[in-house]
Amino acid sequence: MNIVVVGSGYVGLVTGVCFAELGLRVTCMDHDAAKIDRLIMGDIPIYEPGLQNLVLLNQKAGRLSFTTDAAACIGQADAVFIAVGTPTRKGDNHADLQYIFAAARDIAPHLRDYTVIVTKSTVPVGTGRRMASIIRDMNPAAAFDMVSNPEFLREGTAIRDFMRPDRVVVGAETPKAVAVMRRLYEPLTGQDVPLVVTTLETAEMAKYAANAFLAMKITFINQMADLCEVTQANVNDVAKIMGLDQRIGSKFLRAGPGYGGSCFPKDTRALAETARSLGVELGLVRQTMDYNDARKHTMVDRILAAFGGGVAGKTLAILGLTFKPGTDDMRDAASLVIVPALRAAGAHLKLYDPKGMEEAQSCLGDDAGQWCANALDTLSGADGAVLITEWDEFRALSPEAIVRMLRDPVFVDLRNVYDVPAMQAAGVAYTSLGRPVASLVCPSMTRAPAEVL
Ligand code: UDX
Repeated sequence: MNIVVVGSGYVGLVTGVCFAELGLRVTCMDHDAAKIDRLIMGDIPIYEPGLQNLVLLNQKAGRLSFTTDAAACIGQADAVFIAVGTPTRKGDNHADLQYIFAAARDIAPHLRDYTVIVTKSTVPVGTGRRMASIIRDMNPAAAFDMVSNPEFLREGTAIRDFMRPDRVVVGAETPKAVAVMRRLYEPLTGQDVPLVVTTLETAEMAKYAANAFLAMKITFINQMADLCEVTQANVNDVAKIMGLDQRIGSKFLRAGPGYGGSCFPKDTRALAETARSLGVELGLVRQTMDYNDARKHTMVDRILAAFGGGVAGKTLAILGLTFKPGTDDMRDAASLVIVPALRAAGAHLKLYDPKGMEEAQSCLGDDAGQWCANALDTLSGADGAVLITEWDEFRALSPEAIVRMLRDPVFVDLRNVYDVPAMQAAGVAYTSLGRPVASLVCPSMTRAPAEVL
């Protein structure tokens, strides 16, 4: 089958490459000619583990190509996937759908035989129908069906998430469209991955509901961390014990500085605004957003307190800048609040991120501090350290090495990476989130519930 993917960001690229890997003939299309030229040369503009290799392999196999020209590819497509951005609209927090509707207008004139138009982007409920009317107005003769096929890809594990999804969601209106989608996803759903067929609106809604729930789950454990700090409880153990209840699940219960990324912040805002415009107040979602925004500033207060109330004139090592490990993406990263605030408080910063240096420098400014080459270089000679993103490279640091390199071994760990007793035994003035006491949970608690029982 022939497909076109409109939009070559991380969702569009991963979707296109993975479908090519599954044997389809894929054309990735983007307006950005410079980006398309780079992709044709095999130069991937984003860091996503495994993506570069798959692009090259599938280009070589003749299953994957790149173009800016809709006329050259839309007419031959069995399905056209729309994977353009839906960022927060300035001023009102709604999803900005300008790129979605531009894509609909781009493809409409070139539709030939029956085509399934698949919205992969996260869009407010009802957007699919609005796209259909734009296309019908522009090309009344076009034979097509709209489908909503939301993605559940996490940056850093996007290829794995595509190839081994928990489920494939298809919001469609006709059996014909469903049949095309079943054929496209057969290589995955053949390995008993459920393909859930529903309506357009339900699929569009389910995506927002899933992201808002995950954002809320993270906020919940962050609030539990706040409470653990004043009750001598250990939030990691609370999370472990909660997660052994299969109704809760162990994922997304890691306390941190607040969620960031290209999805949770924008999707919670868009969902709350869409609901409000329809007369429904989503208090839980709004509280999640407000608490998460405030938490990044609370983390600054936490850091200042760890350094005796102020950091003026001190040199701080900042470990990790991206919104999570495994990506170079800085969108809504906690560092975008923490780094400027520490500079404003008079600290001199040494900054390092394993993959996000280029993105971080363009977001934070070259003058944000001294940009370092690795963790040891960052730590050595600093008065203290703050870990913002839990890259594996930082997990390898021993408490003894940390004490050796820091002048005044104050270490603020915003991801609970290190072991409390080990850091304290090494003489590190160590603070983390929700762990005033060491973990007493025995290793067996980390096994599957059945074994524990
Ligand atoms: C998310 C959703 O997981 C994915 O299904 C959706 O398609 C896109 O948005 P992503 O934003 O790429 O994926 O990363 P994710 O791993 O979900 O992390 C999002 C943020 O939450 C990061 O800032 C991360 O640090 C934070 N997080 C995640 C926590 O603070 N604690 C956790 O336990 C998990």
